[in-house]
Order: sequence, then C-alpha cells, then structure tokens
Amino acid sequence: MSEHGHGPARQPAITRDSYDELYRSAPAVWTGRPNGQLVAEATGLPPGTALDAGAGEGGDALWLAARGWRVTAVDFSPVALGRGAAKAAELLLTDRIDWRHEDLEVWTPPEASFDLVTAHYLHSAWTDRAAMFRRLAAAVAPGGTLLVVGHQHGEQWGHGHAHAHEAGALYTAQDVAAVLDPDEWTDVVTETRDRDPGAAHRTGNPVPDTVLVARRRAV
Ligand SMILES: C[S@@+](CC[C@H](N)C(=O)[O-])C[C@H]1O[C@@H](n2cnc3c(N)ncnc32)[C@H](O)[C@@H]1O
Repeated sequence: MSEHGHGPARQPAITRDSYDELYRSAPAVWTGRPNGQLVAEATGLPPGTALDAGAGEGGDALWLAARGWRVTAVDFSPVALGRGAAKAAELLLTDRIDWRHEDLEVWTPPEASFDLVTAHYLHSAWTDRAAMFRRLAAAVAPGGTLLVVGHQHGEQWGHGHAHAHEAGALYTAQDVAAVLDPDEWTDVVTETRDRDPGAAHRTGNPVPDTVLVARRRAV
C-alpha cells in the first residue's frame, strides 16, 4: 500500500466504520503511489480492463488508468472513493475509472470480465473470505491475471500488535491459491516478497508481502 501516513499508532481498520474513521483522520492516508507488486506484475501487461478490489484512495487505480487501463475501483469507504475520484479529475483520468461503492463481502463482480483483477491489503472482517476471493477470481477474463497481495502473517508484527489478533483479516497467498481450480488457472505463484522499503507500515514494522499471481487459462 501506498504507505500509511504519519501520526499516532492506532488499531488497524478492519470494518467499514473503522476504515471510514481511518480515512477521515487525515487528508490522505496513503501516499498515492502505486503498490510495488502491482508495478512489478502489471508493467509488462498490455492495457485492458482492470478491477481494483479495495481500491482505497486509488493510488493503484490511477496508476493503471494513466497507463491506458479502464479501471473499476471498488471500495466500501465513500471517503476513500471520493478522494480517488477527485484525484482522477485533477489528472484528467475521470473517464477511465469507474469508482464503485460496494461491499466486497456481498458484491459479485461481473464474471470473466477483467484482464486484471488486483487486490492489495484487503484486510477486513470477512464473514466468508474464501467466497470473496472466489468471486474476485471468477471476475478474471480468460487469459487474464489475478494479483492478490496481503501483509504476511508473523513475528514482524511484534508481540501484542493488534494485527496479531486479527487472524481472519490476514491471509496468505496460499489461502488465495486454495480457491483456484487448477483446471482453470496456470502459472500460479505464491511468494513472500519484500515490500517497497518506502512503504513501511506506520508502526515502522517492515512487514513483507504475501503475493499470489495467477493466469486464467484462455478458452
Ligand atoms: C488497507 S486498505 C488498502 C487500500 C489500497 N488497496 C492500497 O493498497 O492503498 C484496504 C481497503 O479495503 C477496503 N475494504 C475493506 N473491506 C472491504 C469490503 N468488504 N468491501 C469493500 N472494500 C473493503 C477498505 O475500505 C480500504 O480502503
């Protein structure tokens, strides 16, 4: 993620209300820069249609749009979406991004529709996280790419850090890979990667990324 803003440490946001509260707490919570894993994976892809799930303030969606992608940016925080839309207007990218206020817990994206489905740090209080990842995977068009990145579980959080108590909110690349039908997916990569050093968590913990990349087989 685009990095957290400075300021006093707070409990990580995982509900709609806590995310909105987080976004209201500062004029900009993230840096606005694209996430490193997105840049690494999407730079070589031809621009097409993309779904950014949990788009936040839109750093990734704006980066994709500026490279010629048509982006659907989904988030359940109207505050975050409003910021993304304002930035898009400033950058003359309004017609390239559809900002959608949806709850990914229940929203079903159109199936087989996006050349890229990307989700970064989608840490939330999921009732059925696997079903949510299944819906995101189903939205990838044949031949398209699924990229899901999260904060790696582990000691890096430090003892007593709030995330250590949010096992349901954290996921691994393997959790995501588990929902993919091997007959439909190829080139499945599950890795732990260093995070962009400029994007340290606001606690100062350099938490690595857990990264899933997969291609949906072309029909
Ligand atoms: C940690 S932030 C990351 C934002 C952005 N992907 C980035 O990397 O800068 C997680 C985002 O997911 C959104 N989110 C969490 N749960 C969601 C849900 N159930 N439906 C839609 N958006 C959700 C939050 O509002 C927040 O903007």
